[in-house]
Amino acid sequence: MIDNKKLLTMAKEVMKNSYAPYSNFSVGSAIQMKSGKIYTGCNVENASYGATNCAERTAIFKAISEGEKEEIVAIAIVSSGKIVTYPCGVCRQVISEFMGKNGVLIFEDENGNEVTHTFGEMFPYGFTKDELDKGLGI
Ligand code: THU
Repeated sequence: MIDNKKLLTMAKEVMKNSYAPYSNFSVGSAIQMKSGKIYTGCNVENASYGATNCAERTAIFKAISEGEKEEIVAIAIVSSGKIVTYPCGVCRQVISEFMGKNGVLIFEDENGNEVTHTFGEMFPYGFTKDELDKGLGI
């Protein structure tokens, strides 16, 4: 079962740990695996701006490095911007490695209302290992 509210609450909680001295834009994310297990992450910035890690990727890398093998079924993302904060292109690519098209992304708008999209809606024509597999052996 996916509890959207719980994931949003956990994302808000971990957002407090955001390290964002350059943008002052804090982001928090909570990801739920098929097993039900939840991991959280915040953005971690760097003086060399390009070395910054987004909240979603922090959560995903935490999960994988802990030995997680299940697919991701839901991702909540919140920010200090207090508007819907969609994942950047790099994060969508990383998400596509571990989440199917029916996975759900959960956000909150400026009025505190829940907004959801399937991952298929958010990243319709990605490059995945399926394309890689098809290209091998030519
Ligand atoms: N950021 C995220 O953490 N996730 C996103 O999907 C969008 C951007 C962070 C990166 C940076 O620390 C700050 O937001 C401003 O770009």
